[in-house]
Amino acid sequence: MSTSASQQADLDPASFRAIADLAYRESGLTLVQEKSSMIQSRLRHRLRDLGLADFAAYCSLVQSDAGQGERRNLISALTTNVSHFFRESHHFDVLRAELDRHLPKLRAGGQLRIWSAGCSNGQEALSAAMTLLDHVPDVARLDLRILATDIDPEVVQFARKATYPERLVRGISPDMLKKYFDQTTEAGHEPSYIAKPVLTDVIRVNELNLLSPWPMRKRFDIIFCRNVVIYFDQRTQEKLWPSFLNALAPDGVLLLGHSERIAEPERYGFTCTGPTTYRPCHALKSTARPEKQKQSEG
Ligand SMILES: C[S@@+](CC[C@H](N)C(=O)[O-])C[C@H]1O[C@@H](n2cnc3c(N)ncnc32)[C@H](O)[C@@H]1O
Repeated sequence: MSTSASQQADLDPASFRAIADLAYRESGLTLVQEKSSMIQSRLRHRLRDLGLADFAAYCSLVQSDAGQGERRNLISALTTNVSHFFRESHHFDVLRAELDRHLPKLRAGGQLRIWSAGCSNGQEALSAAMTLLDHVPDVARLDLRILATDIDPEVVQFARKATYPERLVRGISPDMLKKYFDQTTEAGHEPSYIAKPVLTDVIRVNELNLLSPWPMRKRFDIIFCRNVVIYFDQRTQEKLWPSFLNALAPDGVLLLGHSERIAEPERYGFTCTGPTTYRPCHALKSTARPEKQKQSEG
């Protein structure tokens, strides 16, 4: 099978349907026909690496028992992993306020648990760690843990290395970059920045498909799940809201991405307390105050 043949293979409608069905079943990703050429170009390198002539052969593989490993590569190729440091910065204000609120409990031996669900290359978890450390410098000595998870094994590997080329660290201020990263230059690679242990020691990175059972036993005080459910249809989103409610501490907070909403949050036990900021309903009476700009649900 020549490289150029697989590079020119077209994604025929039947193969598109088979791949879209499989992606939906395995990961919740909804692929629309208009994205067919993007999907074709993302998957052509898989055909080339596997020596397959066309998408029909690729579909036979990923639909077979022997195709389990390749199904992970397929999902990895289909995910959109765009992220950057301190994205949607208003949520880091919420994080600081949450730390202030939890600090007495933390200093008395309690825990603070944060989850970056759909963490991509790790920028969200590292931004959270920098925010907390900058706000309360000794917080790393307290019982603080950040779990970062993603379905895509490639970004999980990347996040574990916590090493970012210059173009990816632009959202970090020069002061923070100096304080929390070391510069490294591996032979043949562009200059990069590696997160210092003070950050990485509080972060654990794992592979996790949000559509599979969640193995975490402890509840989280803060969950970031930003710019992830936008790739899911309403049915999948509606299946996830109860799981998030269940994974949150009673006075916890769930942060979604700027174009994501829980439609009718009360139906799922949530109240919207700020821009894409949700808390369990019962928490409002006791602890949570509406954040400044109350968001209207549309
Ligand atoms: C656009 S990135 C968002 C990264 C980060 N949360 C942010 O806002 O910058 C979306 C991430 O969701 C992950 N993802 C998509 N479907 C998923 C699923 N079913 N389970 C877990 N992660 C998923 C993708 O692999 C991708 O890394």
